[in-house]
Amino acid sequence: MFVIKHETEAERGNMKKKVTAATLRAAKEQGQPMVWLTAYDAGSARIAEEAGVDVLLVGDSVGMVNLGYDSTIPVTTQDMILHTAAVVRGRKSAWVVCDLPFGSYQQSPEQALATSVQILQQTGCDAIKLEGGTHMAETVRFLSERGIAVVGHIGMTPQSVKHFGSFKTRGSDTDEAQSIYDDALAIAQAGAVALVLECIPADLAEKITDNIGIPTVGIGAGKACDAQVLVWHDVLGLSENTPPFAKPYANLREQAITAISAWADDVRDRT
Ligand code: KIV
Repeated sequence: MFVIKHETEAERGNMKKKVTAATLRAAKEQGQPMVWLTAYDAGSARIAEEAGVDVLLVGDSVGMVNLGYDSTIPVTTQDMILHTAAVVRGRKSAWVVCDLPFGSYQQSPEQALATSVQILQQTGCDAIKLEGGTHMAETVRFLSERGIAVVGHIGMTPQSVKHFGSFKTRGSDTDEAQSIYDDALAIAQAGAVALVLECIPADLAEKITDNIGIPTVGIGAGKACDAQVLVWHDVLGLSENTPPFAKPYANLREQAITAISAWADDVRDRT
């Protein structure tokens, strides 16, 4: 019998190949920087993908940039599920990572597993991210051994802002730098798939990147990392206060105010 074979979209080259954990590992091996960006809804996921973003991180920064909190601490698992499911609906090929929110995983590896399973099953995302160094290594191992793709996050960890007292750079003195380096090794050895390095000196991030086998993702950690991540609002100039390390590539806040004011004037003039 003669069978007509229909080409898939991917075969026709219309669809980017799906990004996976293996893609991240291969990119590190080939020295190919990966682009991560936060996203919190389907529309922004589509825009980011059209712009060539590889990984969409549904950060608990959603609490600060979208929900109006002054830290990430009030964000709940339900908040993360709502936003992550929307991002998954908007993505085509990007790898989607969801932050485990404060209080949903620190109690025990079992608690972290229960929260991760709930998020993975209810959103369809690819990986979870959790904050913490050596003390979280047991949890990272527990999740990884059970088939979960875990992204670590060390350095300046926003969920510990009340403990640190600020969102400032970590690892500037020798002792703290050594302890962040030890954290990186512990999380990598526990089986994490990638590791976010937030607000640490560039030379420390470079040393970590060169010495752990997994991809590093820098935010305010210099340019040697295997990937870079920024918050959606910071890249687009939508934030009222952009962190010093984040270069805005547009000024959408000002443009939005100008556009909405022009429309408001037209409404008031009955134009
Ligand atoms: O919550 C977040 O957006 C993050 C990134 C800033 C790394 O964790």
